[in-house]
Amino acid sequence: MRRKIIAGNWKMNQTPKEAEALIKDLKGKVDSVDSDVVFCVPYVDLKLAVELLEGTSIAVGAQNVHAMDKGAYTGEISALMLKEIGVKYVIIGHSERRQYFGETDESVNEKVKKSLSVGLIPIICVGESIVQRKQGVTIDFVRVQTRIALLGVPAEDAQRLVIAYEPIWAIGTGLTATSGQAEEVCAGIRRFLAEIYDEETASKIRIQYGGSVSGANARELFEMPNIDGGLVGGASLKPEFEKIVNYAPR
Ligand code: PGA
Repeated sequence: MRRKIIAGNWKMNQTPKEAEALIKDLKGKVDSVDSDVVFCVPYVDLKLAVELLEGTSIAVGAQNVHAMDKGAYTGEISALMLKEIGVKYVIIGHSERRQYFGETDESVNEKVKKSLSVGLIPIICVGESIVQRKQGVTIDFVRVQTRIALLGVPAEDAQRLVIAYEPIWAIGTGLTATSGQAEEVCAGIRRFLAEIYDEETASKIRIQYGGSVSGANARELFEMPNIDGGLVGGASLKPEFEKIVNYAPR
């Protein structure tokens, strides 16, 4: 049985002062729940988040990482730097990074391998545009993204990582994929994983849905058989995040 994982992607929001206030407000409300909970915060908030969340079950994630160990890469942050300050997860290949910062399937693959090698858990984002959905190539497109992201990643490492299926047209738009649409693609991703590895490995890898997840739709989405939680943007900055994390009545 896969444990659900619900991660907040804060994007470029929350100065350290604001981050402190939000973490203090949320941490008691989303701690020790039945799912893994992660706050993916801006780089400058990471250390503070790790300190404030010490002793809780909530983990801290970054939103990007560089693929090299160190060197002349002005403005970049290495996987080891993240690991050393207590970061546990890292979002890789978010569609905003693909769209605005030139992230490619190949760079995603390099970052995934580097992150796994230092013990970080990648949350690999894949997902189609509205044009691709309308053209009926969603599954093919997501298959290629997933395949390239995992090139050279052995099964024992793959079991640790997380894949986030985020249709681009659903991100920040209030247009959520229906639970049926989301399940169809997440089930497709699990089939590719079984082709790349084997059924057992595929059954262990967690696949999140992301794109306008809210308190109102979290339960229906997260109860689908192949959806193992969510990557939550806008709503992760609001009190609503508590409702998303506690989507299932106890
Ligand atoms: P959203 O963002 O929940 O605001 O749609 C999700 C994401 O980009 O990870």
